[in-house]
Amino acid sequence: MIRHPLIVANWKMHTTLADAMVLATSIRNGLEDIQHIEVVLCPPLTWLVPIAELIKHHPLNHLELGAQNIYQASEGAVTGEVAAVMLKHVCQYVLVGHSERVRLFGETPRVVSQKAVAVIDQGLKPIICVGEPDKTVRSKQVVAETLQTIVDLVPKNQHHQIVVAYEPVWAISTASGSEPATGEYAQAVCAEIRRLVGSNVPILYGGSVDSGNLAEFLHQEDIDGVLVGGASLKAKEFLKICEIASGMK
Ligand code: PGA
Repeated sequence: MIRHPLIVANWKMHTTLADAMVLATSIRNGLEDIQHIEVVLCPPLTWLVPIAELIKHHPLNHLELGAQNIYQASEGAVTGEVAAVMLKHVCQYVLVGHSERVRLFGETPRVVSQKAVAVIDQGLKPIICVGEPDKTVRSKQVVAETLQTIVDLVPKNQHHQIVVAYEPVWAISTASGSEPATGEYAQAVCAEIRRLVGSNVPILYGGSVDSGNLAEFLHQEDIDGVLVGGASLKAKEFLKICEIASGMK
């Protein structure tokens, strides 16, 4: 069981270094007054080190960092990729299997699983993203099958290290005609995820989350937090999300 709502910011491929430092500083400072949540910022890879330095000088125990991706091998002739071991002292979490990586880079459940294991092997936590591409009556089944394939390859004694993010692809703000799932819809799928991963694994909802709809998701029994894309790029809006989430679970 997680203690507090987990709020993960996915900045994707946005921000200049200057933007990123301003955003991270504003969020860090705002979080001084917001307790009873856990926040993870996932900036673009190159900004992880300067942001880690920034946080190191003014640490907050409810603010941590995550990477948006890694390569599954620990080293080798893999031009352009970064191994989990290289991030070991820089961040605490790594997103794996985000739907944009599935769509743009063809990542399969097997690859996602290998990435999750590589992350765990370095003592970091993988945030395993799963979600059905289209709105369908079979959502629960599609998500459960994918997740089962991924977690089957993660040794059982390491399951307590994982976080699962349920992100229906059609609900992600950049998808054409996107709209957030309803709390009820998300809960039905998350209950199925809970059945697979048990009560110790935090389950997040992601897809067009903002300060207006956050409570609808966090009120659900099997949703322990949220993965926020677009709304995490505005410090004021993101801090509002954190404030509302504070102490909600
Ligand atoms: P969104 O993105 O909040 O902008 O919909 C979420 C995600 O893709 O992780």
